[in-house]
Amino acid sequence: MSKQPIGIFDSGIGGTSIFKEVHALLPNEHTIYLADSFNAPYGNKTKDEIISLSIKNTEFLIDKGCKIIVVACNTATTNAIKILRATYNIPFIGIEPAIKPAALQTKTKAIGILATKGTLSSELFHRTTDLYSNGINVIEQVGEGIVDLIENGKINSPEMMSLLSLYLKPMIDANIDYLVLGCTHYPYLMPLLIDMLPKNVKIIDSGEAVAKQTKAILEQNNLLNTASTKTKNQFFTNGDVVVLDDILNHNFNVSYLKF
Ligand code: SIN
Repeated sequence: MSKQPIGIFDSGIGGTSIFKEVHALLPNEHTIYLADSFNAPYGNKTKDEIISLSIKNTEFLIDKGCKIIVVACNTATTNAIKILRATYNIPFIGIEPAIKPAALQTKTKAIGILATKGTLSSELFHRTTDLYSNGINVIEQVGEGIVDLIENGKINSPEMMSLLSLYLKPMIDANIDYLVLGCTHYPYLMPLLIDMLPKNVKIIDSGEAVAKQTKAILEQNNLLNTASTKTKNQFFTNGDVVVLDDILNHNFNVSYLKF
């Protein structure tokens, strides 16, 4: 069992930011990544649609023999992970915006959260925010259009710059000192965000925490791969192979999958 791969899925290429953290922390593990780019973005879909796509992705990874699944998509986690955990008999790791550390550390008592509509309107998000945001001004912003641009290979484009200026303005005006990235596509915007935000603003994403949690759950379940053979990291997409290959810096084997 321990030689079985870790499965990772996302609505597209954004979850590769999570794959990179998982791979760095667990270099002995085989992985299979599924980018459902054909159906991206998930952020504007209904809860039922997100659940049914998440089930489809999960079954693909289970058929490939995955021993654990990382739901590397905030929208899929907040809307579907409860059902996935109740339906399948393997562990699932989810990803949620890191509101807690931002709320605990803010000095200006103002934090910004950039995420999809599907994440910001979810019950899980509201519960977490209510729990930690007492006395803190939380500026929520839907990142409408950002995922589409990233999926189309337009990270450093004029369109991206104008969307970001629009979305960051209310946060800068409110004097935030933490920006929480609530979508796995957004870490790829880090250089732009650093340039556009005041110097005192710290940007938090959940990638490292997800990798640590994956390791802890594998350990608890005796599922770590202790063999030191060369690992296999496979990538499947039902979207543009070139865009996925580019974001991975051409380091891995990427295949097209009609899915
Ligand atoms: C999306 O598909 O809209 C974004 C994925 C995410 O929430 O991480």
